This record gives sequence, structure tokens and C-alpha cells, in this order.
Amino acid sequence: MTNFLSLADVTDIDALIQSGLAAKANPFADQHLGKNKTIGLIFFNSSLRTRLSTQKAAQNLGMNVMMMNVGQDSWGLEMEEGVLMNGDKAEHVREAAAVMGRYCNIIGIRAFAELKDREKDYREQVMHQFAKYARVPIVNLESATRHPLQSLADCITIEEAKTVARPKVVLTWLPHFKPLPQAVANSFCEWMNARAKAGHIEFIVTHPKGYELAPEFVGDTYVTHNQAEAFAGADFIYGKNWSSYMQYGQVLTQDPSWAVTMDDLQVTNNGKFMHCLPVRRNLKVADAVLDSPQSLVIEQAANREWSAQAVLKEILKHNG
Ligand code: CP
Repeated sequence: MTNFLSLADVTDIDALIQSGLAAKANPFADQHLGKNKTIGLIFFNSSLRTRLSTQKAAQNLGMNVMMMNVGQDSWGLEMEEGVLMNGDKAEHVREAAAVMGRYCNIIGIRAFAELKDREKDYREQVMHQFAKYARVPIVNLESATRHPLQSLADCITIEEAKTVARPKVVLTWLPHFKPLPQAVANSFCEWMNARAKAGHIEFIVTHPKGYELAPEFVGDTYVTHNQAEAFAGADFIYGKNWSSYMQYGQVLTQDPSWAVTMDDLQVTNNGKFMHCLPVRRNLKVADAVLDSPQSLVIEQAANREWSAQAVLKEILKHNG
């Protein structure tokens, strides 16, 4: 593996899941791989889990870690080519990425969708510009359209918690008053579709009308607008809000009946609740669910360390 931008960079999901579980069992076994190597973690947006878990994973592998909040710790970065830089962005990504690539062996980047221009967001300009000019491996710490480190942690969590050979996994939309990106839902679909195609899970999606995700992520997954139908017999309920893809970036409904309650879980197979966090309690999911033994959200967040470690190990192994 060179870059980790999406599932397309992964040749064997099973091996990556097992590598994450091995790291969890023995976190410091591969310290030699990162000795005298440096990772730069670059954030255009806020983070708790991604920032801390990736730092921890890199340190477990013996790496030095540098972090930077773009625009706060650094100059604002211009991404467009050939522009007259007479605005508020003082440095171009051509120089910034090239310089960071001299200091770092790996660069991780978080850059959310702006939710103004769908074509621009789905072009993944920030990731591609860094990959082009940094000339070192790039790790996606959540981009405009994907959050693959989260999806790998979700795969690890499902593998650990499943009680049947081929669990039923449901992605459900949750209500929110703010427009949020589609990245987590897109990525979850991408990875779960691959798991379903390999026969490991059954996967379905439920959301209100108007919240259809991009076809390239949903594929031929069964989608229903009836949440109760989707939940019937489910082993895992994965909750997430996202704004509309079709009416790009808009909030079309805040219908509270889509929030997950203990009553909703009655029709599941003792279904476990998952969410990438942060989550707004009682807006998207009831306290009773999050505080119940059916909630996996803390274990899921803890597994972010092991998903990051599996990915960094793979990159270090192939880019020594
Ligand atoms: N799930 C996740 O990526 O959390 P942060 O936004 O806090 O990093």
C-alpha cells in the first residue's frame, strides 16, 4: 500500500482487519517499522478520535508525530492552480505539500466537504493535490467523500462483536438540524458492500426520501424508506446523519421519528448500535440506547487506534 485514500488502495480487507486485531492484542510488536520515521497529521477541520487515535497508532509503531491545524497553526492554503493569490490564502499547496513531504515520511490529512459545490467536493481536490505535490504516502483522515479509517474500525468492531456467521448490518439516516457531509455514510457503504459481496454480511440502507447517496457508493444495495422494515432481525444498526446528495448539502427533513430509541431496537436481533461519534444525544439517538449494553460506540472509537495502526504498518512495510 502506498496511499490510503479509499478502499481502492486496499488489496485484502480481511488481512487488514486481522492486522488491526493483532495490533490490539500486541500494540508494540512492530516498533522497529517506524523508528526514525515521521508522520505529519494535517487538519483543516476539528477532530477528537482521528487526531488522537492516529497519533497513538503512529507512536505504537515507533514513529515521531507532528500535527498542524491549517489556517490556525499555518498559513491558509490555496488549492486551485494558476490563480492570482490576492485573497486570504497566503501559501499554495504546491510549496506547502512539497515542504511537508521533505519533513514527513507519511502525511495524514483531514479536509471535509464544503457542501457548496458537489462536483468540487467529489473531485477530492485537497487529497489529490497533497498526493501530487508531497511525494510521500497520504492517509485520508476524512476527506470530502470518504472516511476509510473509520470504515476499517467499523469492520473490526463488527468482526469482534458478531454473534452469527453472516450478520445483518443496517445503515440508517438520523435527524440533525445542521447539514453534515456524506463521507462517513459513503465510506461505510463502500466497505460494507465489499464485505457483503464477499459473503461476510447482509447489508441494507434506510433513509427518508431525498437522502439517496451517490450511486457509486450505494451500488446495488437494497434501500428502503421504512426504518422499521430495515431494523427487523438486524444484528448491527449503524446510525449517521448526512445532508442531501441530490439537493446538495441541504437539510430536507429533521423528522425526529428517525432518531433511534430502545423501542426501535425491539425488532432487531438484540441489535448493537454503532455511530462514528461525535453524536448529539437525544437528537439522533436516545440516552437509553447509548448507555445500554447494546451500544458499541466506545469500543468502535477505541478500534480507531487499531485501524490506523494496521494502515500505517502496511504503508511502512512497503515504503521503507
Ligand atoms: N469519528 C471521527 O472521525 O471522530 P473525530 O471527528 O472526532 O475525529
